Amino acid sequence: MSAPCRIAPSLLSADFSRLGEEVRNVVAAGADWIHFDVMDNHYVPNLTIGPLVCEAVRRCTEVPIDVHLMVRPVDRIIPDFAKAGADIITFHPEASEHVDRSLGLIREHGCKAGLVFNPATPLSWMDHVMDKLDVVLLMSVNPGFGGQKFIPGALAKLRVARQRIDACERESGRRILLEIDGGVKIDNIGEIAAAGADTFVAGSAVFGAGRDDDPNRYDTVIAALRAGAVGA
Ligand code: DX5
Ligand code: ZN
Repeated sequence: MSAPCRIAPSLLSADFSRLGEEVRNVVAAGADWIHFDVMDNHYVPNLTIGPLVCEAVRRCTEVPIDVHLMVRPVDRIIPDFAKAGADIITFHPEASEHVDRSLGLIREHGCKAGLVFNPATPLSWMDHVMDKLDVVLLMSVNPGFGGQKFIPGALAKLRVARQRIDACERESGRRILLEIDGGVKIDNIGEIAAAGADTFVAGSAVFGAGRDDDPNRYDTVIAALRAGAVGA
């Protein structure tokens, strides 16, 4: 398995009334990336945040911002997120008319590019674009909401994706990250890592760790997630 792992707290479960503080706190607690879920009430039945908020988050931290687009169409909004400070931009292939073009557009704007696979989306979408992928993101819930339960079938899919990525890396020498999103918790991250994920989105597991006055709550949960992933 590729090391080291990355823990990417999803802002979807953060307290939006104090977003800047939440971002600074999870980064201080060891977050490697900030996962930024963009939903349009069209491709998915929920509405969240856009480039303006991304720009505000950018001002709060230096860690990579991992923009997960759950929008259709995708191309119009890519340059806006690049300008707003995104480092990684991923999108769902079903939401793009021209997957190769969308991946190219992300890279032209200086960001890392990735495809997102819903639980029922076949991995064959990556067949002819491996050379344009920096990240492969597998959804282990159906997109749209935080706090859902991990779909166990994602483990077998991760194993297949891992093999394909490893084969591609051997051939090209180029690194592609394998990210998992949805229902990742302290008690299942070990088996998820063992199945091949190296980058872990965790929303409710991190931000739901308690809204009490314990300033160490994010440190504790992020450390436990990392220990669970690395111990795999
Ligand atoms: C779902 C989002 C996820 C979500 C993860 O559509 O893409 O990033 O916030 O939340 P948890 O970790 O609570 O499942
Ligand atoms: Zn996400």
